[in-house]
Amino acid sequence: MTADRQSKVQDHFLRWWIGISEAVQDKLTLMIPGPTPVPETVLKAMGRHPIGHRSGEFQDVVKRTTEQLRWLHQTSGDVLVITGSGTAAMEAGIINTLSRGDKVLCGDNGKFGERWVKVARAYGLDVEVIKAEWGQPLDPEAFRAALEADSAKAIRAVILTHSETSTGVINDLETISGHVRAHGSALTIADCVTSLGASNVPMDAWGLDVVASGSQKGYMMPPGLSFVAMSERAWQAYDRSDLPKFYLDLGPYRKTAAKNSNPFTPAVNLYFALEAALEMMQAEGLEAIFTRHARHRAAAQAGMKAMGLPLYAAEGYGSPAITAVAPDGIDAEHLRKAVKERFDILLAGGQDHLKGKVFRIGHLGFVCDRDVLTAVAAIESTLDALGLHKTSMGSGVAATAAALAA
Ligand SMILES: Cc1ncc(COP(=O)(O)O)c(C=O)c1O
Repeated sequence: MTADRQSKVQDHFLRWWIGISEAVQDKLTLMIPGPTPVPETVLKAMGRHPIGHRSGEFQDVVKRTTEQLRWLHQTSGDVLVITGSGTAAMEAGIINTLSRGDKVLCGDNGKFGERWVKVARAYGLDVEVIKAEWGQPLDPEAFRAALEADSAKAIRAVILTHSETSTGVINDLETISGHVRAHGSALTIADCVTSLGASNVPMDAWGLDVVASGSQKGYMMPPGLSFVAMSERAWQAYDRSDLPKFYLDLGPYRKTAAKNSNPFTPAVNLYFALEAALEMMQAEGLEAIFTRHARHRAAAQAGMKAMGLPLYAAEGYGSPAITAVAPDGIDAEHLRKAVKERFDILLAGGQDHLKGKVFRIGHLGFVCDRDVLTAVAAIESTLDALGLHKTSMGSGVAATAAALAA
């Protein structure tokens, strides 16, 4: 037997042994908060031959996607497209609106709040951190108090994460942004990486100044594009900003966007995907998208609770994009890996000190009722197979199905 043949036989045996038949290979289901599943239409749009990025044909794509992005952000301002991941958009938000030594308030109640603090400190900002325990939401009152106490108007920006992916908590961005508005001069810079396209983020109505997001989330696309939306006040701050920047200098992006172009070679094929994905989103409608995500949150939460698995996010603050579960007394990593091995469904693990204590179900982007029901059923069946089911077999699926039927 050749080595190649031998390894195929071994692989076949291994898959049979762990319960995955040959027939289901390549049937991976992503239930993580990014990358998220990508619709066939979007994959096909992306699979065409690239075109010249200075061609009229490509400029038409940029023109159409610019309008679609404004629709998604509910803004009449600029939404700029960067080739990069969500963190590029976060960094761009800071370096284009702030100056060395500026005082900022950073909300930190999880891994991505921590990231804001790191980026702000990397650029020499004077960061005051407003913390909440992981699993708890940021307290809008803490922001109000700090902003009201700032009679010298030294605070230049309030920086926070809307949907904190590491803990599955949604922060009250609307209220916090209202307090920033009342302050008068500070900007609101928001990471909406896992809220945009899942939850309402009406940029203009809430008075947000910078909104950062990334393609591999609610956009239903592969990773590779990030988006920075800028208000008029953010552009005024841009004129004063002295932080170093080149690739992420949004000035040239704005200038070229006015001509339906980009300062550098953009990810042409990801633009094709973007247009197709946004067309799908427009066909579904914003309200329907938000309702779908809220239903899936309710269904995932109901299933977990019925199986006696506590939710990690504080009651009433669960993100519509992610449900974090803290399965008391159960090794979350062991369970997560067993679900992957038995069903090829990928759940996300806990980050940092939550590793082994928490698993997370992503229900963000191109996710339907069947996906949520299947994920809950896979978790339930795996708990049962491992002898770890805390309630009666079928209780999780029944609760999820009931929530979906409501
Ligand atoms: C809330 C949040 N912010 C920022 C990021 C960073 O995005 P990226 O990994 O695309 O740089 C993520 C990624 O998961 C996220 O969930």
